Amino acid sequence: MSKPPANRFRPSDHTFAAESLAQIGRGYVVPDRVALITGCSSGIGRELALALHRRGTIVIATARRAESLQELADLGIATEALDVNSQADISRVVHAIKTAYGRLDILVNNAGYGQMGPLLELDTRSLEAQFQTNVYAPMALARACAPLLKSRGRGVICNIGSVSGVLATPFSGAYCASKAALHSLSDVLRLELRPFGIRVVTVQPGAIASEFGRHAETSLRGILAPDSWYKRNEEEVRARALESQQNATLAKDLAKRLAGELLRKRPRPILRYGNKSKLLPWMARWLPRRVRDWLLARRFGLRRLQLVNQ
Ligand SMILES: NC(=O)c1ccc[n+]([C@@H]2O[C@H](COP(=O)([O-])OP(=O)(O)OC[C@H]3O[C@@H](n4cnc5c(N)ncnc54)[C@H](OP(=O)(O)O)[C@@H]3O)[C@@H](O)[C@H]2O)c1
Repeated sequence: MSKPPANRFRPSDHTFAAESLAQIGRGYVVPDRVALITGCSSGIGRELALALHRRGTIVIATARRAESLQELADLGIATEALDVNSQADISRVVHAIKTAYGRLDILVNNAGYGQMGPLLELDTRSLEAQFQTNVYAPMALARACAPLLKSRGRGVICNIGSVSGVLATPFSGAYCASKAALHSLSDVLRLELRPFGIRVVTVQPGAIASEFGRHAETSLRGILAPDSWYKRNEEEVRARALESQQNATLAKDLAKRLAGELLRKRPRPILRYGNKSKLLPWMARWLPRRVRDWLLARRFGLRRLQLVNQ
């Protein structure tokens, strides 16, 4: 097997932070876990790479643009370019991990984005792209990594879902549906992979400070044409795209909590963390559907629209 090129996987380069060394000294951290994380250019993925690295995990941080990982590389974290929608990229990175480490303990499917806008204004291509990145790509990564995760009998697949997959809201239907699908796939994977020593953790974050809102706003380009049925709701549509950044919890707080969970012997199957991560599932579970619909319709200006159209 060829040697990994310079500046890629260099296990010997890993510098463990003082915090981890202290923990190793106290004898309760075994610094031999290898973790692959997608979407580390910003936000949750980036902070999780740092948090796991600090705890002595060997992290392979990936992102579409390798240059966006330079800061992590400077800290001694292994980095690699990976577009989660490219099967060739996935195969290359998994092969490189196998060559360099011979194992993988944790896969974090974090890369994702929110396609916003009224559902009927999204063409099939936008819907497919949303499901490709948020649903099919995590499954492709799980498939490619499963043999390595199984080999030591204690692998973890962590899928970053969303509270939006629990309570669907107007003007974000494609995103909510993609995360609901990911939750459902995770539930089945958890059962199907447990006999092989692989645990599956679904994270359902609430509002987390990151680049998510900026990317979500960009996804609105070309939506709400002058003759749109929802032209009057332009403000609400835009507000929905930016909602995750209102009173948002710091990504590094979620990352710290999640890193601790992933390194536990028996991580919990579902982790909800961040502003509104408890309130929205509570609404989904306990509010009568008519009440919930009424509240959401009012909140997103759909009752106003109904009155205008009557
Ligand atoms: N922020 C929140 O409030 C929130 C709440 C619930 C769930 N989430 C979920 O958390 C995850 C991380 O999001 P974030 O909040 O940290 O937002 P973010 O800062 O926008 O990070 C998203 C990451 O995904 C990457 N990505 C998107 N498409 C990709 C592709 N095809 N291949 C590789 N990487 C790709 C982005 O890379 P580029 O830089 O190349 O675009 C970026 O690194 C997402 O799955 C999101 O749905 C976020």
